[in-house]
Order: sequence, then C-alpha cells, then structure tokens
Amino acid sequence: MKERIKLLLQSAKEDIKNASVSKELYELRVKYLGRTGAVTELLKGMKDVPKEDKPAIGKLVNDLREDIERAIEESEKQVKAKELEKRLREEEIDVTLPGKALKKGSLHPVNLVRNQLIDAFSGLGFKVFEGPEIELDYYNFQQLNIPEDHPARDMQDTFYITDSILLRTQTSAGQIRCMEKDKPPIKILSPGRVYRSDYDATHSPMFHQMEGLVVDKGITLCDLKGVLEEVCKKVFEADVKTRLRPSYFPFTEPSVEIDVSCCECGGKGCSLCKGTGWIEILGAGMVNRVVLENCDVDPDVYSGFAFGLGLERIAMLKYGIPDIRYFYDNDIRFLKQF
Ligand code: DAH
Repeated sequence: MKERIKLLLQSAKEDIKNASVSKELYELRVKYLGRTGAVTELLKGMKDVPKEDKPAIGKLVNDLREDIERAIEESEKQVKAKELEKRLREEEIDVTLPGKALKKGSLHPVNLVRNQLIDAFSGLGFKVFEGPEIELDYYNFQQLNIPEDHPARDMQDTFYITDSILLRTQTSAGQIRCMEKDKPPIKILSPGRVYRSDYDATHSPMFHQMEGLVVDKGITLCDLKGVLEEVCKKVFEADVKTRLRPSYFPFTEPSVEIDVSCCECGGKGCSLCKGTGWIEILGAGMVNRVVLENCDVDPDVYSGFAFGLGLERIAMLKYGIPDIRYFYDNDIRFLKQF
C-alpha cells in the first residue's frame, strides 16, 4: 500500500508538472481526486489493510490527497497568470491608431424651417396645436366654408378613404378643431403633413404646411402684417419687407397672398424673384364670419386672422433648393448640407 501511495504521488506530480493549460489541470483534478479518481480508488483498498496499520496508512492517504491538491493549486496559479498575460498580449489595443469617426446626422431642412418658425412664433405667444392627418371632410372642407361641389375643392384634389374621410389637404382643418375645443383668445400654430394628388418640381403628393390662427377682440389685418413681417425677418435672417395682395380663400374674407421682399437681391430684381423683387410665401386673411359662426364664435364680438404656409416652399427659398423632390429622396449628399 505504501508503495502504491508513493507511486501515485510521483505520477501525479509528474502529470501536474507537464500540464500547461488550466483545462489540463482540471482534468488531472478529476483523474486523481474525483469521485472515481485514483485516490478514491486507493481508499477503497483500505478495507484490506490490517487493522493496526490502518491509522498510519490512512494518514498517508490523507497526506497524499493534500499534496496533490496543493500541487494542483500552485500550478493553477502559475498557469492562470500565464494565460492572462497571453490574453492581454493578444487583445492589446493600440490607442495611437486613428478611431472610426462617428457619422453625425443633421436635421432635415423641412424640420429646420419648422423649428425656426415655431421658435419665432412662440416668441410672440403662439402655442402648437396638432390635428390629425386622416381627417373628416367636415373639418377639412365643410366647416371651412367649402361645401360639397364648391369649385375650391378642385384645387385640392386629394386621397379619399371613404366619401367623408380623407387625407387632409390643408392644415386649415386644425383651425376648426381648435376653435371647437377652446374659446377665444386663441393664438395657435398648427404644423403637419398634408396630401394632394400633385406631382412636379414644386408639388409633391405629401408636403408640410404650417397654419396660424389668432382670434380675439379687435384683431385686424394690421396685426397679421405685423406678426408675419416680424417672423419673416427672423426666419430669412434679413431685414425683409412684406406686402399683401388681394386673393381668395373661402375661409377668409378679405383674403390675401403675402409676399416678402426677395432675400436674394434685396428687392432689386433677380432670377429668384423673376425680376419683381417680391416672392410669394403664403396665403392668409381675416377669418370669414361664416367660419367663426360655424364654430360658435360670435363674429360681432371677435375677429381673427389666419394664414397657411408651405414649409418646403420656405425651405426652398431660404436654402436655394430648386426641386421639391430633393426633400424626399433621402440622399445623404443633399441632407448633410444643412
Ligand atoms: N389652406 C390654404 C392652402 O392650403 C392656405 C391658407 C390660406 C391658409 C389662407 C389660411 C388662410 O389659413 O387664411 O392653400
């Protein structure tokens, strides 16, 4: 028995010395100390040892187990340290190498103009009110004084979902929703997507508008002119002037088109303003009495102005973009210029 113990210790030490990775050491632990390992097998032979020798032999076997255990632990420490060193060497990062530059996005020009307008108008006390894109004919047309068969509907031919539900053609629908919800004084901006069946260099089946509505006692066309001139100066970042030209919209009376002095030539005349010195930017007017009455606002007490502008149109003018379709192509070369 003593001989077997000695041989086992020798062979274990030899094995442990030759092990160079922690997996091998794990396997050796199983081989010698595991449930069916060599030391355990040895213990089974204890029953044949004469009674008087048992304490001494038992001690030897226990010492053997401890020796092997210690030898494995020591070797493990060294092997693991070597392994760690190797990993660190392999995974070394060269901090002097140039990094990968992160691509930075930018705001879409339509959003830029939208934010600039909201900024300028909120400085004058306007709040944002957003209406739905899928709208009732009732809000998009009827309540805006555009009954069925009204010829003004032809200019805004759109996408119908049913006879009475459509993709809104104008953010003006938001005016009615707002006046139904709140009583004057009202001062809102309503930005959003609108839809029409149009497609060419300056028209897209989907585009963005921003509506404005002010209703209070004593509101006049002068207020409209003053507010818009102030906002245009901010958005075009120039000392632009505005002028009103008579126009027609069923929901305003009187109705006007508003022009700004050309930001390119300062009003002298150039190709952008087609030599006139002026650029048309939006439609507006005093809210029609009929529309106020439709919303239960007394037109003898309150008056209001409204306006609606195309965000793409403002962005095209401001940034010199020649075709509306650039906005929707998602071409990074175009988008990263803003
Ligand atoms: N909704 C009109 C359009 O899409 C624009 C407009 C004109 C809005 C006059 C208004 C307004 O609020 O008063 O062409």
